[in-house]
Amino acid sequence: MRVLLTGGAGYIGAHTATVLAGRGHEIVLVDNFANAERDVPARLARLTGQAMTLIEADIRDTETLTAALRAHEVEAVIHFAALKAVGESEVDPLLYYDMNIIGTIRLLQAMRAANVGRIVFSSSATVYGQPDSAPVREDAPTRAENIYGRTKLVMEDLIRDLARTGPLRAAANLRYFNPVGAHPSAQIGEMPRGVPNNLMPYITQVATGLRPHLNVFGTDYPTADGTGVRDYIHVMDLAEAHALALEYIGAHDETLTLNLGTGTGISVLELVRAFERATGRPIPLHFAPRRPGDVASNYADPSLAARVLGWKARLNIEDMCRDAWRWQAAQAGINDI
Ligand code: UFG
Repeated sequence: MRVLLTGGAGYIGAHTATVLAGRGHEIVLVDNFANAERDVPARLARLTGQAMTLIEADIRDTETLTAALRAHEVEAVIHFAALKAVGESEVDPLLYYDMNIIGTIRLLQAMRAANVGRIVFSSSATVYGQPDSAPVREDAPTRAENIYGRTKLVMEDLIRDLARTGPLRAAANLRYFNPVGAHPSAQIGEMPRGVPNNLMPYITQVATGLRPHLNVFGTDYPTADGTGVRDYIHVMDLAEAHALALEYIGAHDETLTLNLGTGTGISVLELVRAFERATGRPIPLHFAPRRPGDVASNYADPSLAARVLGWKARLNIEDMCRDAWRWQAAQAGINDI
């Protein structure tokens, strides 16, 4: 298919682009480089052998988006572009409403104008808030516990509304759990700006010596070892799920809402141990109080995606640690594994 990726130079967008190219899809990347590196499109071209069209634009620029959709005869959009820092969203809600919600409306207007009726959307397990129990199924209650989460819920609803009322023919809301890892080539990966908020990039920066230790936020959760439990999923598995979802909605006029996770809960300490095993690098720990807003445990029931798409995560926690580290080591100029 001819597919346009908003946020196509970002972490999940770029990995998805490699998988789509490998499956013969033609890709148009749209990015404003607010949180993506400028050399990613060139890296993608080298990795895939496909010179992808790059359009530097903001998703709120409906005119540019409409023109791009028409000029490239795009058949479907994968909508990754969004702001995603929970803390920042609570400091500046209007920024998040504007970029995430208004941005999605502008994109949907462009799609309607260009008669593009298929969309895959980057949603998040954040829509479950504090889940009542885990594993979490797609029919669990959704709730917004911060502004970022609220924007994801609204974006999902906008897409469902347009699928119900007509402008969209097919849609897939993909609820990611905790994406980690990097492309096996170590040519693309996650590149957080400043101090990482998320666990895996923080661990890899401790391993390079950039940061002295990992703060373990909370040791008194009602979990087996007292630390927070999450469902980490390798970004390449996630990328493959996007390709399958795209192909599914290309063939079926349906609206899907699917969890993307492995179905296995891993604690902070288990992740640290797996990282040490996979890389041989010690991670010094400091035990710290709980981080406000964190849930004790959240992991997916991914069986619906298995049934509908025939998708299942293949890579395990050590694969995730190894690939995250190979990428970070390459960035830091460390000749390691
Ligand atoms: N953690 C630490 N130390 C750190 C960073 C994280 O101990 O330096 C712990 C957290 O307390 C949590 C676990 O590691 O128990 C995972 O934290 P992340 O920040 O990596 O991931 P979250 O599950 O908190 O966040 C993810 C997404 C967000 C989303 C959120 C809620 O990254 O975008 O899930 O679904 F909003």
